[in-house]
Amino acid sequence: MAAKHRDYRPRQMGPREQLFLGLGLVLVGFSFVASLIFAITNSGRGVSVRALEMPEWLMTRGPLDPVTVRDMAPILELLLRHEQINRLVTDLPGGVRTVTTSEDPALAWAIRAHVRQMQSRLAEGRPLRNADPVYREIFRHGDRITIDVVDVPGGVVVTELSDDPRVRDLIRKRAHLGESEFVRHGMKRAGRPTR
Ligand code: HEM
Repeated sequence: MAAKHRDYRPRQMGPREQLFLGLGLVLVGFSFVASLIFAITNSGRGVSVRALEMPEWLMTRGPLDPVTVRDMAPILELLLRHEQINRLVTDLPGGVRTVTTSEDPALAWAIRAHVRQMQSRLAEGRPLRNADPVYREIFRHGDRITIDVVDVPGGVVVTELSDDPRVRDLIRKRAHLGESEFVRHGMKRAGRPTR
């Protein structure tokens, strides 16, 4: 007996179905192009999470490199707990002598780490806080500055000198009106330039 075959001719789509299919295709196409543009514009930038962008209190322009990420940690700790830090600045003929200490061992560690990190940045010409004119100038004259750091209980004694009178004035300004004000007022001072 001959098998019966049904006729499976595809049925024609109605105008509503055609409209939905068209819209769906446009949507898929659009999201493909959008994700392509996103991938291209973000490639090679590393992590682009907002939490890892340059924070305002650092007053530093430019990309957030790994060394700066490292150096940020002690600064953040010092700013957040500024009330537990003691600081004394004495003017010397060529600059300043500063004593910066804390009774909290974690803060003492952060002070010591911060000073050494900043000393290396000055020596390597790796500016920080370049949106603050006083710090910008300090880094511009890093080769005219000598820094001597001695660990003392709770922190450091730093002797910072220059034989150039203009650089000496900059050092004093930074020590009195920069670092000492960070210690006094913390985060809310760090986001403003030094005057
Ligand atoms: C409470 C917060 C802070 C403390 C306790 C602190 C402490 C110090 C100390 C002890 C020095 C060595 C020179 C000196 O004694 O004057 C120093 C240098 C330096 N600090 Fe800080 N600092 C603080 C906040 C900051 C912040 C917010 C920045 C930048 C965003 C910064 C950037 C620097 C730089 C660039 C130097 C090297 C400049 C130089 O010695 O000429 N510091 N800091």
